[in-house]
Parts: sequence; structure tokens; C-alpha cells
Amino acid sequence: MKGIFYILKRFLPPYKKYLFLTFFFNILSAILNVFSMATIIPILQVLFKVNTKTYLFIPWNKEGYSILDIALNNVNWYVTQLIDTSGSSYALMMLAIVLVAMTLLKTGTSYLGSYFIIPIRTGVVRDVRNRINDKILTLPIGFFTEERKGDILARISGDVNEVENSVMSSLDMLFKNPILILIYLTTMTILSWQLTLFVLIVLPVMGFVMGRVGRSLKRSSFEAQNKWGELMSQVEETLSGLRIIKAFNAENKISERFHIGSNIFRKMSNRIARRQQLAHPMSEFLGTLTIAIVLWFGGSLILGGYGIIDAATFIYYLTIFYSIINPAKELSKSAYAVQRGLASMERIDKILKAENPISEPAKPAAISFHKHIQYKNVWFKYQSDWVLRDVQLTVEKGKTIALVGQSGSGKSTLADLLPRFYDIQKGGIYLDDTNIKDAKLRDLRSLISYVNQEAILFNDTFYNNIAFGVVHATESQIIEAAKIANAHDFIMATEKGYHTNIGDRGGRLSGGQRQRISIARAILKNPEILILDEATSALDTDSERLVQEALDHLMKNRTTIVIAHRLSTIKNADEIYVLKEGQIVESGQHASLYAQGGYYTKLCDAQIDLK
Ligand SMILES: Nc1ncnc2c1ncn2[C@@H]1O[C@H](COP(=O)(O)OP(=O)(O)O)[C@@H](O)[C@H]1O
Ligand SMILES: [Mg+2]
Repeated sequence: MKGIFYILKRFLPPYKKYLFLTFFFNILSAILNVFSMATIIPILQVLFKVNTKTYLFIPWNKEGYSILDIALNNVNWYVTQLIDTSGSSYALMMLAIVLVAMTLLKTGTSYLGSYFIIPIRTGVVRDVRNRINDKILTLPIGFFTEERKGDILARISGDVNEVENSVMSSLDMLFKNPILILIYLTTMTILSWQLTLFVLIVLPVMGFVMGRVGRSLKRSSFEAQNKWGELMSQVEETLSGLRIIKAFNAENKISERFHIGSNIFRKMSNRIARRQQLAHPMSEFLGTLTIAIVLWFGGSLILGGYGIIDAATFIYYLTIFYSIINPAKELSKSAYAVQRGLASMERIDKILKAENPISEPAKPAAISFHKHIQYKNVWFKYQSDWVLRDVQLTVEKGKTIALVGQSGSGKSTLADLLPRFYDIQKGGIYLDDTNIKDAKLRDLRSLISYVNQEAILFNDTFYNNIAFGVVHATESQIIEAAKIANAHDFIMATEKGYHTNIGDRGGRLSGGQRQRISIARAILKNPEILILDEATSALDTDSERLVQEALDHLMKNRTTIVIAHRLSTIKNADEIYVLKEGQIVESGQHASLYAQGGYYTKLCDAQIDLK
């Protein structure tokens, strides 16, 4: 129960108005129900002559009587009058009409109670989804390793649905049933506190038994949802790796892996569903058991002639007590459902409550870039091994530096540190004299454009893909950027020109075309600093020429950090840094570096390795 209140406290405040309305109508409905069932007393007492007392009208303000006694007496008096003047049949009809009218009111208000809870449910679920999405956008790249993607999708779809279906659909039950139970119990206490005392001893025993089964449910659902996330990750992998899977004839292997996981998930679901189904028969049985016990106890009181309760009131008492069974059942059912929802909420919170290690400074320093970028004694590791060790380098404004080294030597990592995709552990990175950690992330990143091996495009038009990072781009600016990037011609050759949709991740374009779109995007942003991470390495020679040309346009008058495998790009760099296992081992310009006959010379001679 603590968990549910915690969820409500977090997500409910914007919907207080609806909560109030729900409360109001639920209380109203419970009270109306008590009154509508009260018509049973005069029906039994007067019509069926359970007792043959004659009733006299008692003034409403008469002392010595409770208002309830007066009301009961006066209703009975009125019914007696009615029978005397118009006959029993007519009186019965009148009572039936009263019953129908009261029930109509009761069900109407009960509906309104549920009606106002719907916007809460949909609203909370929408908020959770939005929060996950926004949180994903703020979390650093390092949070999302490849294998987590499917799991995150599973959380947004599966777990949020689970929260909706269980926690939120239980809201109704949670807000209605305790009210109903409370009001019925109060009525019962007024009718006979002795009997109610007895009931209160029996009921908790029943509740305890129900609670036992619910507890293990949460753990099982947590495990099941984790398994579901794993499965989703596999599907994600299958989708993105379909080409390789087919090429290696690995369909069977992948299929087998999925089937195994999917079978385990089924077994878990069986266990959960069976335990859940147990709730209903168990509560029905326990409910009837309790009624039987109360029937026996109350009946004995009447038969014993203690004068504690009369027969008609006892029947009424039993109907009210019977009305408790349903809300009590629903309450226990929702306790089950809530356990499942809480398990999902816990998984969602792994994202929502994840701490962002890339923090914004409390008092951001103004950032300027007139002189240089400096890496001073930079140490960095992803996990346990140092990937960069004591890196020192300077990029003068307007110059181009090249990073050279074998695959895995840390070139991409070194470049990723500048926009703070990751934070370094030791040393500092400076723009002019400002440590990048002291600057606003937005300001820092607005200085930098990024083109890497894999062009990242979105399922949108050419136009919007190029305009991506720029808010107020005009059409002529976009066309101009596309022209410089050698992209204009092939864009115009498509059906709707700039307004052609490029499909999911630009799937309909060739690698070179995709790359030129991403270069056009960088040109439009017009950044001070440019990072090119093997921008042409995935291309064939033909499109490489077009892309290289585009890159040359882009690099003009800019500060550039280039990671490349082509000697021609590297040759023209103002400074070359040679990386080996995370350390800068040599630096200088091409001619002098090559003449040294060291590591760089070896790399150049085996040009193929320069990736
Ligand atoms: N996200 C990551 N998590 C853990 N290790 C990583 C990650 N990215 C790269 N590495 C490791 O860091 C080292 C340097 O990688 P990288 O900077 O990509 O090299 P390069 O770009 O020179 O090929 C490699 O050993 C690589 O395995
Ligand atoms: Mg790399």
C-alpha cells in the first residue's frame, strides 16, 4: 500500500480537481445505497407482518430518541397509514418505486464517480510517458549502450501499459471501495455494534489470508517484465541486423534464441496469471464463509431473545454486510494488480531516477572561442581501463588538426569529450581559458558540429533533416547549404524535391547521399568547431569524392578536428597527433613526422590501418 501512495503523491497533484469530484460522488453513492436498501425494513416489518407493532408519529425534535429511531419509526408509521388507506398492494408498489428511484440515483452517482477518475488515469499515464521520453533526451550517451535500447522500448510500451492497466485502473477501486466499506461499516455499527464488533474480528482474518498470496506476485512480475525487456532487445537486434542474419544463414540460431526466451516468459506469465486468478474464487469462498458465520451468530442472538436486534433489521444488516463483500473483494483484487504495477513502476524508475553524471554548472561561465581549444593532461575511462592517458593537445582557432592511430586507440573518444558526451576523470578541456565543465552545455554544443561515419537521419523530409539544428532557417539558406554539400542535385531528382520524405533512418538513400545530407546540416548550422570522425570511411571511392568535396567546403575557415583514413586529408592538417593505446606518441606536420621514421611512418606505409 505504501507504494501506491507514493506513486499517487508523485503523479496525482495536477489532477486534484478530478480526485475531489470522484470522492464526492463515491460518498454520495454509498450513502444513497444505504438508504435505498433501507426500504427493505418497512417491507419486511409491515407488509409481511414480521412484527405487529402499531406505530405512532413521533415529532422530529422529540427528546430522548435518536434521529435514526425517529426516522425508522416515522417511515413505518407512514407505511402503516398507506396500507390502511390504500391497501397493501398499493403500499408495496410505492415502496418498489422508491427503491427504483433511489437505485437510479445511486447508480448515477456511482457512474459519475468513475467518470471523473478516467482523466486522472489517462493523464498520469501520459505524464509518465512524457517524462521517460524527456529523461532519455537529457541522459548522457553513455547511459544507452546498444543492448539497452530494446529494454528501454519495453519500458515505454510494456511497463507503462502495465502501470496503466494495474495501478491506474485500480484507482477507481482504491478510491471507491474504502469509502463504501467505511460507510457500510458505520451503518452496521449504528444498527448493532455488538454484531459489528464480531464482524470486525472475522474480517481481518480473511484479509490476512488474501494478503499472503499477493506478496509473491510483485517479485514474479518484476522478473517477467525484465524478461520482456530482454525479448524486446532481441527483436531490436534482429531488426537492425537482418542483413547480417540472412547473409550468415543465422535465422535458425536467432529464432531458437528468441523461442527459448519467449518460452521462459510464457512460463512466468502462467505463474502470475494463475496466482491472480486465485484471487477471485478465494475471496468468494472466504466471503461466503464470513457471511455464514455472521448469519449463525446474529441468528443465534435473535433466537436467544436478547433484544439486541430484531429480525427485519437483521435482514437489513445482512444486506449491508453483503454489500461490503464486493468492495472488499475488489479491494483485494486491486491490491494484486497494484503489486504488478509497482513492479513495472520500479523498472520505469530505473530510467526516471537515473542520475545524470553530465551536470550543468550552478553558475555557468560565459564561453568564448577566439584563441584555441586545449586538452590539458586528460585522463578518461569508460569503465575500468584508461582509454585516454595524459593527453595534451592544442587546436588553434581556424586550424585543422588530424588524429591518427589504429582502430581502438581512442580517437573517437578523444573527439567525443569536447561536446561533453562523456566527462573526463582527470585533467581539463578548455575553450580559450574556460573549462568546458563550467560552461552551459547548450552554449558549448552550439559551437560544435559533428559529422561521423554513420550519418544520422530522421524519418522526415530532406528539408527538415537539413534544418534540424537551426530554428529559423529559410528555404534559400537550406538550398544553399545543400548545394555546397553536393546534395542539391540528387534531392531535386526525387519526386517532391526538398519535401520528399527520406524514410526511416534514410533507408532509401545511398551511404554517400546520407553523408552529404548530414554535411548540409552541419553547413547550415555554421559552427565554429567541426568534428569529422571518419566521415568518408564508409563510402566507395566514387561517392567519397563528392563527399570529400563537400567536406572541403565545410572545413573552410573553421576549426576542425578530423579523424580520417585518407592520407590526403591528413597531409593538409596543420598539426597531426598520433595516438597509440590512448596516448599521444608523436605530433607535428606530415613531412617532418614522416621523416622521423617512427610510429607515424609505419602507419602511413601500412595506410590501410589508418582507421
Ligand atoms: N561506449 C563505450 N564503452 C566502453 N568502452 C568503449 C566505448 N566506446 C569505446 N570504447 C573503448 O575505448 C577504446 C577506444 O575506442 P575509440 O575511441 O572508439 O577508438 P577509435 O575511434 O580510435 O577506433 C576502445 O578500446 C573501445 O573498445
Ligand atoms: Mg572511432
